[in-house]
Amino acid sequence: MANQDTQQLDQQLRQLFGAHTYSEGPLAVSGAGRRFVGLDLCHPLNLDQVTFILDALSQFRIISIAGQDLTAFSLAHFERFANHWGAPVPHPNNFLRGGKSAQSDGDSDGEFELIPFENRTASAVNLTFPDQLQCLAHQSPAVLVVTNFRGQIVGDSNGNRPTQVGRGGSWHTDIEYEPLPIYVSMFLVHHAPMARTAEGGNWVNAPDSPGPYFEGSSDELMKRRMRLPLNGETAFADTAAAFSALPTSEQAELEKVQLRRRLNIQDKGWLAPLVRTNPRSGIKSFHSPIWASRPRVRPPVEVDSMSESESRAFLDRLEAHVLQERFRYDHLHQPGDVTLWDNYMTLHNSPPSKGNIDSIEDARLLYRLSCKGESTLTLPRHDPEDWLKTHVPGGYTTPPEIINIG
Ligand SMILES: [Fe+2]
Repeated sequence: MANQDTQQLDQQLRQLFGAHTYSEGPLAVSGAGRRFVGLDLCHPLNLDQVTFILDALSQFRIISIAGQDLTAFSLAHFERFANHWGAPVPHPNNFLRGGKSAQSDGDSDGEFELIPFENRTASAVNLTFPDQLQCLAHQSPAVLVVTNFRGQIVGDSNGNRPTQVGRGGSWHTDIEYEPLPIYVSMFLVHHAPMARTAEGGNWVNAPDSPGPYFEGSSDELMKRRMRLPLNGETAFADTAAAFSALPTSEQAELEKVQLRRRLNIQDKGWLAPLVRTNPRSGIKSFHSPIWASRPRVRPPVEVDSMSESESRAFLDRLEAHVLQERFRYDHLHQPGDVTLWDNYMTLHNSPPSKGNIDSIEDARLLYRLSCKGESTLTLPRHDPEDWLKTHVPGGYTTPPEIINIG
């Protein structure tokens, strides 16, 4: 972003949010990412403020609104804010379908049933460090508690608690396996790991397992997939910059590509474009250019008119392109930050993380909300009931007491 553009952005920011506010960025070498400092999201946003933030995300793909005061900013404020970006979607960890985990490959059309709060992750989290760290109060099924501690502490026969390091996830976008994918996801950071006792002054050592991936990808692709951050950062890849870096002729060919996605292996599925154009900024990007983003949980996608092996080769090549260093960004979390990303313009991955922890120094606690559909300048949203029934589990809408919170 040119200096002059940055000055204009900050000038507009100060006019809308106050003279004390400023921005930092780009956060990524690709040009993605911007941090906004001094914005207080406890207050309802006016039309111009919402427009500014929507425009910022459409341009920067990832934005972080830093430093919310967690003694005042609640998960209700967070969910009200999320409503501007789309309809908040209950997370599969918080409900059952037909009596089964909504996350598993199975009867995804079964009856919707909320898991009682006392059986959700948040309740287990609260048992781990009872006097030091408790989840922010909430009941909303849209809030996903993302954490590396759940109250279950496993000791060995000598009474020691060996910590374990999880290997991180697979590269993906959120809920790309439904006909209407998630548009924006966002984290509110409550606690980030501060211990740096691993090799190289990191929080954890690099895991040596190959991750959850199917066998058969090239060594180079596996190397890029497994190069994950070691201090609890969320790993991002900028699919807009990756698209923009290709020759125009290749871009034109890729824009014609349709992917057949399906929820379950036996489904006929539907076709979805590989390349999307952001309606606000006009920036083009890849949406989930990955053959199997959820190995053994959701079926791999097919490129329309290609066989399974051709589809895999085509998409593995694109994934390797997108995961190059020059399009990557590891976002370090800090308490109070609200960090948003556009799932049509980025990939992300969860980092290797320490489990079975007994020190608050190792605690990672974030809350995630994800939104579907259209953004809106004003609240409450007015999503039609039949649209909600089709695209949002249980037809959930944020209750008025959250929208109207002071
Ligand atoms: Fe995710």
